[in-house]
Amino acid sequence: MNGNIYITGFMGAGKTTIGRELAARLRRGFVDLDQALAGRLGMSIPRAFSELGEPVFRDAESAELKRLSRRKGLVVATGGGVVERQTNRKLMRASGIILNLKASLQACRSHLSPDQTSGRPLWQDAEALAARFAQRQTAYADCDLSIDVDGKNLSAVAAEVMAGLLPEERFSALLDGKECPVIATARASELLAEYTGGRRTAVLSDRNLARLHLDRYRQALPGAVEVLVAPGEGSKSLRNAEKVYQALLENRLERGEVLAAVGGGVVTDLGAFVAATYKRGMDFVLCATSLVGCVDAAIGGKAAVNLAGAKNQVGCFTRPLAVLLDLAALATLPRRVILEGLVEAYKTGLTAAPALADLMENSLPQLMRGEVLGLAQVVKLAAQAKAAVVSEDFRESGRRRILNLGHTYGHALESHNRYRVGHGRAVAAGMRIAVELSRARGLLDEADAARMKDVLTPLCKGSLAWPSAQEAWPLMLNDKKNEGGKVVFVLLSGAGQPLVTNDLTQQELQAALDGVIKEGSV
Ligand SMILES: NC(=O)c1ccc[n+]([C@@H]2O[C@H](COP(=O)([O-])OP(=O)(O)OC[C@H]3O[C@@H](n4cnc5c(N)ncnc54)[C@H](O)[C@@H]3O)[C@@H](O)[C@H]2O)c1
Repeated sequence: MNGNIYITGFMGAGKTTIGRELAARLRRGFVDLDQALAGRLGMSIPRAFSELGEPVFRDAESAELKRLSRRKGLVVATGGGVVERQTNRKLMRASGIILNLKASLQACRSHLSPDQTSGRPLWQDAEALAARFAQRQTAYADCDLSIDVDGKNLSAVAAEVMAGLLPEERFSALLDGKECPVIATARASELLAEYTGGRRTAVLSDRNLARLHLDRYRQALPGAVEVLVAPGEGSKSLRNAEKVYQALLENRLERGEVLAAVGGGVVTDLGAFVAATYKRGMDFVLCATSLVGCVDAAIGGKAAVNLAGAKNQVGCFTRPLAVLLDLAALATLPRRVILEGLVEAYKTGLTAAPALADLMENSLPQLMRGEVLGLAQVVKLAAQAKAAVVSEDFRESGRRRILNLGHTYGHALESHNRYRVGHGRAVAAGMRIAVELSRARGLLDEADAARMKDVLTPLCKGSLAWPSAQEAWPLMLNDKKNEGGKVVFVLLSGAGQPLVTNDLTQQELQAALDGVIKEGSV
């Protein structure tokens, strides 16, 4: 996941241009091997080639490649001839994957200016050039992913590469007795067009998404009605729901037509709520673009809007035609939105997917930076686990309660801080308390607790007012997931081993709080 991506191909295939674009789309560093080598040798590549001679030049090139192979998480545009040595190909495979850009000689020539070819003797001898091009093809074919670039523009090639690096994964969630496909994909807009099947469609989204991602959806669904709301929690209101109903009415959307909600949890919650109630229910597809949306909000059939000051008070259980997790959208997520999503993903990992918890414990800094291949892996594991949990308990009366880990104290903390802290940070703090309580009860051993703490501490860092047990208790008793007047609290006896308890005492909670606060890491 954190290996380098080495781009190979003949001179002029577009390795540097595509490499830069790919690095931006994946949020990785970019290195041009030729540029790095020219810097080290203190002369241009054509000059080094002619002054040093090919064998010495190739040795220097291999040494540069070796240096780069020791770094991680890069996109590297290699020189056209790097693949000729099998040892180089082995090195690239051992430290990452090889992506070949396959171009005809004609296309390579058309991408290069006379300036770029004039200093290179090979490009002056058509026969020798064709022979070298033909001779390298076997080495180029020794790759993990090959993309044909002839006749395609930059954005089309980049989209194909992304789809190749982010292969589709399909799960399904059983919602109210029927299967709902959940698909993690870099081609969400194209799949949406397949699901709408030519029916008239309204796309509901927010203005951030309209700027960043809706063009892909517009291309896939030409003529779709567009309804935009302001970004943020404030849009999840009955007033906004009414505005969306009105827009659907004005555009004569009928029950047999489709609403597609493209956005974070706010847009998918609002969209699902409107679709479930407009004309007593119309078909809808959720396209999740935020991390919270992909790992949590869009999966599970819960739709709701807020009432003044109270979240998710009006809503229903419902079932979309499909849930599409838009992996190509992850590259533009702001840091705050990434951290919110990582908290919910870790919660799912700790309660239902130990492999996900493990992945996050081993690659947290890369994930916090928003590296897209890592985030996509988190999305796939979390979505699959959440789909399995909700399939067992659609209406939240049993197993689904494990997903409340961190939320009981987290909600109290949010309310105590007058909702001025993000939900994710509050839940991370709640999970931190749950880990401490589990450790104190002897359910978790010290090593497991320490690993979990290392993930949760950076996720809840910042100024927070932690309510005391006495302050938190009445707030926790208000939680709608409690039963029989007792606080329901999820603890852990290991990753993937949640325990739903109702015997927590105020004294125990205060001791856990004192322990966490005394550590000073929060
Ligand atoms: N239905 C459920 O089961 C469920 C579960 C968890 C959360 N939720 C709800 O989800 C909401 C929170 O979701 P959220 O964190 O996605 O909030 P959000 O929808 O407000 O998105 C956060 C911000 O990120 C932006 N954004 C989204 N995708 C982006 C992208 N690809 N690139 C750049 N910016 C992007 C949005 O415009 C917004 O400004 C809450 O309302 C919560 O109640 C629902």
